[in-house]
Amino acid sequence: MMDVGRHPRINLLTYSEIDNISGYIGNFHVTVRKKARFVDEAECNACGECEKVCPVVAVDEFQQGFSSRKAIYMPFPQAVPSVYILNERDCLGHNPIACGKCSDVCEKQCIDFDMKDQLIEFDVGAVIVATGMDVYDPTEMDEYGYTRYENVITSMEFERLISAGGPTTGHFIRPTDRETPKHIGFIQCVGSRTQNGKGNPYCSNICCMNTIKDSLLLKDHYPDTEIKVFYIDIRAFGKGFEDLFQRSKQAGVQYIRGVPGEVFEDPATKNITMTVENTATGAIEDHEFEMVVLSTGVIPRNDSEVIRSLLSLSRTEDGFFMESHPKLKPVDAPTGGVYFAGCVESPTDVKDSVTQASAAAARTEILLNAGQISVEAITSELVPDTCTGCGICVRVCPFNAITGGDAKAKLPVEIVEAACKGCGTCAAECNFDAILMKHFEDAQIMAQIDAILDKDPMEKIVTFACNWCSYAGADLAGLSRMQYPTTQRIIKTMCSGRVDANFVLHAFEQGAPIVLVSGCHFVDCHYIDANRWTQKRVEKLWDDLEKLGIRPERLQLEWISAAEGQKWARTMKELEEMRQQVTEEEVDHTKQVLKEARLKAEAKKKAKESKPKAAEKAPAAAVA
Ligand code: FES
Repeated sequence: MMDVGRHPRINLLTYSEIDNISGYIGNFHVTVRKKARFVDEAECNACGECEKVCPVVAVDEFQQGFSSRKAIYMPFPQAVPSVYILNERDCLGHNPIACGKCSDVCEKQCIDFDMKDQLIEFDVGAVIVATGMDVYDPTEMDEYGYTRYENVITSMEFERLISAGGPTTGHFIRPTDRETPKHIGFIQCVGSRTQNGKGNPYCSNICCMNTIKDSLLLKDHYPDTEIKVFYIDIRAFGKGFEDLFQRSKQAGVQYIRGVPGEVFEDPATKNITMTVENTATGAIEDHEFEMVVLSTGVIPRNDSEVIRSLLSLSRTEDGFFMESHPKLKPVDAPTGGVYFAGCVESPTDVKDSVTQASAAAARTEILLNAGQISVEAITSELVPDTCTGCGICVRVCPFNAITGGDAKAKLPVEIVEAACKGCGTCAAECNFDAILMKHFEDAQIMAQIDAILDKDPMEKIVTFACNWCSYAGADLAGLSRMQYPTTQRIIKTMCSGRVDANFVLHAFEQGAPIVLVSGCHFVDCHYIDANRWTQKRVEKLWDDLEKLGIRPERLQLEWISAAEGQKWARTMKELEEMRQQVTEEEVDHTKQVLKEARLKAEAKKKAKESKPKAAEKAPAAAVA
């Protein structure tokens, strides 16, 4: 960090937050709020005189609450820049001005109680998101007594207690009697891999190795300490990790397969007891410790929502940010020109974070050095004369690639081609056919529907499949030689968001007995959340079909991922059974009803379009 701070070509903005990011790949405009630290950063030489005279004592967050700090303080010993900061909330000099002792002793006159936040604006070509993670708070797992028993601590608190720069200068003591504990238990997977609603279902990746490292540290400092680790299974994959695990065992650390259901404190000794089923031996065991460390997992940063919405990012089910492609573009965000490094994308250890950061930097360099970008030939294109500026497309575009539009002023929208990824949601939602999707135009898709239903329509299931998941799922089913009926005919779109309601109605009007719309599961959509609009559209279609007396079940919606070949085959079998129950009379009735509805809508549209023309003629007639 010191190197970064000193680098002539890196502008390090600490104690700052992103206020706004606008623009697109190669052309972002960023506004940063540099928060007032009330100490002149350029002048402060960290002499520490201000801290000595400050009368306020507050909880030191960096030391996990094990020690105190002043209202003016150095955030942590290796902070870059090495400059003091004044906490406005704690300082007496602020509200009302009643103290000012720090200002009196500061020879360099660095302290400025009137300092204000500063807004800094600049343009950048790419953004790397490396906002890290938060540590899981085990308060909700009351069975481990974290909030009730002082001698139950988290792994993060353990780090501070064993650190030479910690509140006890590295002397590991237990909070209740300040004595070095002789028996210490570690409970693994606290808040990770849970299925009971508490904690998170995913593995936090770093906790096993962290505990192994902690156990070796303890054994190094206090060889006589008895250490027991309670685990579900130890995940020590990675270079040198298994070796470290074996060293920990050789050093005498006992690994017991099984985690306790509950822990109790002995009120007299303050020792922690627990009963565990050792799943390796099948025995029920009782254990007693002077101290217990909860190996807590990691969670996505609580305040990452701001960045997510500013950069139009999406999240996985776990809440971490979703990459563009897990194998081929693991550090690219779906939004062009945005990259990820570290725990923002998934729980990641130091080595992987560094690897990701290097990859993200390299990806950025490739982009910036090229000086130009190539966009896919499937982006959307505006038909300006048809656009009414209603702004529906602006609302639904997952990438903020469409801007402007004013219906009252009749101003059409603008499409930023560089930001468009070609999901087609805008074209599907536009009521005026004002957006063309290159290579996926309405006419092209309608022609495919017509071709499918040209002969024996009763024998066909019209299937819309998104390129990334459902189509790949169908591919997998085929490659795996799975058997399923051959009645389905696939029309591929880049995203299920492209499936216009008119495509579905046209298919039914042309005699399709069953129509399927399929796409990625919600968190997997390659166009952030475009498939949420698919869902809304299909739900509206179900309502409309019902109102017209058509069975809504004939329109099916399925989320099928690229790995779900089996689900694809199963869905096709189910749809085939449904198809066989649709009668010719039912299809004829559908065709008739939809044709009438379409003609009625077309007539209404024509009448509406001719109205302004009549109005335009009126003044001329008056003049005549
Ligand atoms: Fe598959 Fe959007 S990419 S539904």
